[in-house]
Amino acid sequence: MDRDEILAVDREMLWHPYTQMKDFEAIDPLVVERGEGVFLYDIDGRRYYDTISSWWCNLHGHSNPRVNEAISRQLAMLEHVHFAGTTHRPAAELVKRLSRYLPPQLRRFFFSDNGSTAIEVAMKMSVQFWHLSGKGAKCRFISLERGYHGDTIGTMSLGGVPDFSGPFACLKQDSFKLPAPYCYRCPAGQERSDCDVECLAPLDGILERHGREVAAVVLEPMLMGAGGMLTYPAEYLRRLVNKARSAGVHVIFDEIATGFGRTGKMFALEHAGVVPDFLCLSKGLTAGYLPIALTVTTEEVFEAFYADYSEGKTFFHGHTFTGSLLGCAAGIASLEIFESDRVLETLPEKVEALQTGARELLEFDIVGDVRGIGMVAAFELVENREEKRPFPAAIRAGWQLYLKGLSEGLILRPLGDVNYLLLPLCVTVEQIGDILERVKRVMADFRPC
Ligand SMILES: Cc1ncc(COP(=O)(O)O)c(C=O)c1O
Repeated sequence: MDRDEILAVDREMLWHPYTQMKDFEAIDPLVVERGEGVFLYDIDGRRYYDTISSWWCNLHGHSNPRVNEAISRQLAMLEHVHFAGTTHRPAAELVKRLSRYLPPQLRRFFFSDNGSTAIEVAMKMSVQFWHLSGKGAKCRFISLERGYHGDTIGTMSLGGVPDFSGPFACLKQDSFKLPAPYCYRCPAGQERSDCDVECLAPLDGILERHGREVAAVVLEPMLMGAGGMLTYPAEYLRRLVNKARSAGVHVIFDEIATGFGRTGKMFALEHAGVVPDFLCLSKGLTAGYLPIALTVTTEEVFEAFYADYSEGKTFFHGHTFTGSLLGCAAGIASLEIFESDRVLETLPEKVEALQTGARELLEFDIVGDVRGIGMVAAFELVENREEKRPFPAAIRAGWQLYLKGLSEGLILRPLGDVNYLLLPLCVTVEQIGDILERVKRVMADFRPC
């Protein structure tokens, strides 16, 4: 099929995620054909920096020979087997290697298929844990405005990104919401310099009034991705974990986007030195190759379910591709690369180049805020910087910037009017410099209207 045929079938038969399909009347989707390292190539050979790591997944570059080889080797042995009543070396080796990077308390691993399922597993385990522990029906959750945990009905109930789940309000189970720690537009009216995480104060009231019904607090540590790449202080996490623990409520960390080096450390929880009851991983787990996920929990949680079958304590949850052999093979190869290439040790220099370089975007008066952590840098477009006044939503300023970025070989897919770079860990300092220069060229004469 050539480009035109692909696009014709796409127009007639396909339906893309998070996409107003009518947008394709004005601009065709990129017909991507191959990838190498930090680059994607379209069918006409045009090269693009994969500046969003293919939806925050890719770590060691596209078509990485070592990950490719590991998957091929596994494929030649066995492609898939159900994971109930069987086990296998790839699953065992993956969790053993992974446990070296995790706090020792987190040592029970439950596989599923994607980020949303990892969260749903944690939610269900938490609810069943409290039930088994004789604490009654603790079936509600606390989550954050602007939080994002997936698109299944359960995870959508936790989510707080404006627009994402409007029509589905009738399906959602209400969760208690904390204001987002959106430092640029602080809900408590503070500045970063005088912040004492006042925005966390509402948690006390919720725990006091409803703690007995609440199973867990769920949040994305250090960086709230889909809500606008919001970064917030580690102290917020430390206090939140303490408060939840004191109230007999679990903490679920969603590190689906932040895990595997993206924030400059292997896991974002390390920034705060805290340990949740559940840690959810996906995306980078396979270096961005295959859809698998892990929900990691404590021995205390596991023990509550461990009993004779007749006692009815089994965790009845599973997915067809649980423990995927190919996914595990990719995950092992990825962790081998972390070790052999000392990936984490290469990050500080790259993080410095990205964060320092990104701050220069403040020279453009339509950039209201530049924020970032690790390999993620985001900039928020505003019509008026003094007033932090956004552009009218109908203008779709972020989308306009994305379209312009394509001509510079960048994929600046926006979150509303926040455009961002979320770079693969393998990007070089020189490439970061080149990417930032390109962003500046895109911004130079950009005036959304
Ligand atoms: C923080 C976070 N949690 C959960 C998810 C959902 O993952 P998935 O799309 O694999 O279901 C995402 C996806 O972007 C995410 O960023």
